[in-house]
Amino acid sequence: MTEDRFETIAIHAGQDPDPTTGAAVVPIYATSTYVQEAPGVHKGYEYSRTDNPTRTALQTQIAALEGVDEAADGGCVATSSGLAATALIGYMLKPGDHIVLPDDAYGGTFRLVAQVLSRHGIEWTATDLTTSEGFASALRPETKLVWVETPTNPLLRVVDIAAIVAAASAVGAKVVVDNTFATPYLQQPLTLGADMVMHSSTKYLGGHSDVVGGAIVTNDQDLLDQLRFLQNATGPVPGPFDCYLTLRGIKTLGVRMDRHCLNAEAIVSFLASDDRVDEIWYPGLESDPGHAVARDQMKRFGGMVSFTPKGGVDAADSIVAKTRLFFLAESLGGVESLIEVPATMTHLSVHGTDLEVPASLVRLSVGIEHIDDLISDLDRALG
Ligand SMILES: Cc1ncc(COP(=O)(O)O)c(C=O)c1O
Repeated sequence: MTEDRFETIAIHAGQDPDPTTGAAVVPIYATSTYVQEAPGVHKGYEYSRTDNPTRTALQTQIAALEGVDEAADGGCVATSSGLAATALIGYMLKPGDHIVLPDDAYGGTFRLVAQVLSRHGIEWTATDLTTSEGFASALRPETKLVWVETPTNPLLRVVDIAAIVAAASAVGAKVVVDNTFATPYLQQPLTLGADMVMHSSTKYLGGHSDVVGGAIVTNDQDLLDQLRFLQNATGPVPGPFDCYLTLRGIKTLGVRMDRHCLNAEAIVSFLASDDRVDEIWYPGLESDPGHAVARDQMKRFGGMVSFTPKGGVDAADSIVAKTRLFFLAESLGGVESLIEVPATMTHLSVHGTDLEVPASLVRLSVGIEHIDDLISDLDRALG
């Protein structure tokens, strides 16, 4: 399988024809338990909290796409949501341990660290991971985990993964990269030295806004064993139907990402030449501070675009109320375009903190509809 290319791996890894029936598509194994020949003698499955064949197929597929080194005995743990994946990683820490996270992280990640893990004696510092000064000053001898999100949600800042890995390893901290926005099609953090990759598969991996899920991928067998133990011990597992939907969505990931990127680039050109727009955040812009790093570590620049309109919050609220094709909704990464105001929607939980985002910021998840229709929709909504 390893010599196959991305689009081929997406369709074949973990998806051999079903050995008993020849079914070409991985079945939805809707079973909680598995019959044993004698106590402890079985076909590798005992109980579906611990494992399920549809989940195994999904885990194999995601691990292969993230470039897991089979010789290193790495792998993937699929979870019931992205935050369940984040929580599992958090369960690996103990009181007194310290986490560094970006000052522009997904609001739910921040809430989990600041309002849940902190109750259990885990300390944290949110800092600008795009500068080596910010990062160096946040590190402590107790730092066990550095949480990287790149590009970040919603300001699309780009973090140099290899540089963070080099600095974190000097203090013995593990590096996790939330690869939700880029997906393995655009960026493979494990190949840049990250210890773990985390996904909200609810987004581009699933790709059709019809399932909530998450995943953690690692090349480190010890980390994988710990994560599997913690998942079995705490229970945040995805159901087989959810695994099937995600597995099916991922088959077209490469094709979809190409179109998401193409459409986003065209929308950025449109916004950049429009005098109703104030500022644009997109790592594909040459003027973007993260452009050089993004060009090196990403294949293309992704389907997410943020901007502020002239006219402030009122203008932002008016735009999001007027689009027809861009649905006003949270989430991202589906085939349909979405629009939102992070300050009052996805990032409400960081209001009043250092992670607060501009009140008039509008975030677009650019879908794969026809680009001319998307631009007309935005043009009309800009008023
Ligand atoms: C970058 C990022 N990470 C993690 C999450 C959490 O994932 P989930 O909603 O699947 O729990 C999200 C959700 O929006 C996200 O955008």
